[in-house]
Amino acid sequence: MSLIEKAAAKLKKSESLVERAAEQLKNNVVSEDNNTVSGKETFSGPVGDSNSLKASNQSVANRARVELSTDILMKNNIQTNDDIENSLTTEEFRIVKRSLLLNAFSKGESAIKNGNIVLVTSTQPNEGKTFCAVSLALSMAAERDLTVLLVDADVAKPDVLRTLGVKGDKGLIDVIENKDMDLSECLLRTNISNLSILPAGKKHKLTTELLASERMGEIIDEIARRYHDRIVIIDSPPVLASSAASVLALHVGQILFVIEAERTREEELHDAFKLIEKCKNINLLLNKARFTAGKKRFGSYYGYGYY
Ligand SMILES: Nc1ncnc2c1ncn2[C@@H]1O[C@H](COP(=O)(O)OP(=O)(O)OP(=O)(O)O)[C@@H](O)[C@H]1O
Ligand SMILES: [Mg+2]
Repeated sequence: MSLIEKAAAKLKKSESLVERAAEQLKNNVVSEDNNTVSGKETFSGPVGDSNSLKASNQSVANRARVELSTDILMKNNIQTNDDIENSLTTEEFRIVKRSLLLNAFSKGESAIKNGNIVLVTSTQPNEGKTFCAVSLALSMAAERDLTVLLVDADVAKPDVLRTLGVKGDKGLIDVIENKDMDLSECLLRTNISNLSILPAGKKHKLTTELLASERMGEIIDEIARRYHDRIVIIDSPPVLASSAASVLALHVGQILFVIEAERTREEELHDAFKLIEKCKNINLLLNKARFTAGKKRFGSYYGYGYY
């Protein structure tokens, strides 16, 4: 059985989600002042000495806030409504989410180092990494007791903010470049109180080198340590197109590997897996599968399993 068939064979059925994120979007009272801290904020700040905690709380207060709009999300193919077709996609994300969460916070012998940090990647461009990272982050944020940080680590093609329909400024690359900059200065709060975003930041001519640098690893480790109670979803470049993904893979606890149905080639999969093999928890996700029960359907997540 091929890897792709194995992924498809793992198809399971479960209850549905993402619409709760949409619900939260609708229910959240959005302040006129984008920099106002909402009383409902469930920010779980960094652990550490009281000074860094103070600095961090200060930066929470100063952090920019962006508003996600259901209309823009839908325009960008991100499902937030519950019509029959979209709720199927939503259901499939729930399955993915449950497995990742089980690994993320497992304790004792089954505990995974940095298990709460999930890298979303694929072999080639355009296979649905950003779509998947954003949809998953929204699905996770619909869990009321979970805090989610969505990181855009695709500096060459930073699509997270565009997909969410928001604007940002500083981000990951700025923190990598500037040792004095605190990570939390770059975080964007959103009108979903338990969802924050770390944008990619400005384009830099040394981006590939910077992303492949030790500093990058340090930052991921720092994110894992400071935000150990959050789930961190990292949108990454494709493994075969950038060395950044394999560097990121060294530091994350889990990988969600997107396979595009009828497009991703098995040889490429093997090549890509070799480059990310240091991460022992690789979850496969078959994207854009066509489903023939009644009618053809584009854009659903169809299979999921371990490599
Ligand atoms: N399951 C899906 N349903 C609907 N649209 C999808 C789905 N998966 C991907 N798309 C659409 O396909 C296009 C490419 O997806 P996306 O940008 O997520 O790919 P990517 O892997 O992040 O690409 P890149 O490597 O260039 O960053 C986008 O327009 C996205 O909305
Ligand atoms: Mg992308």
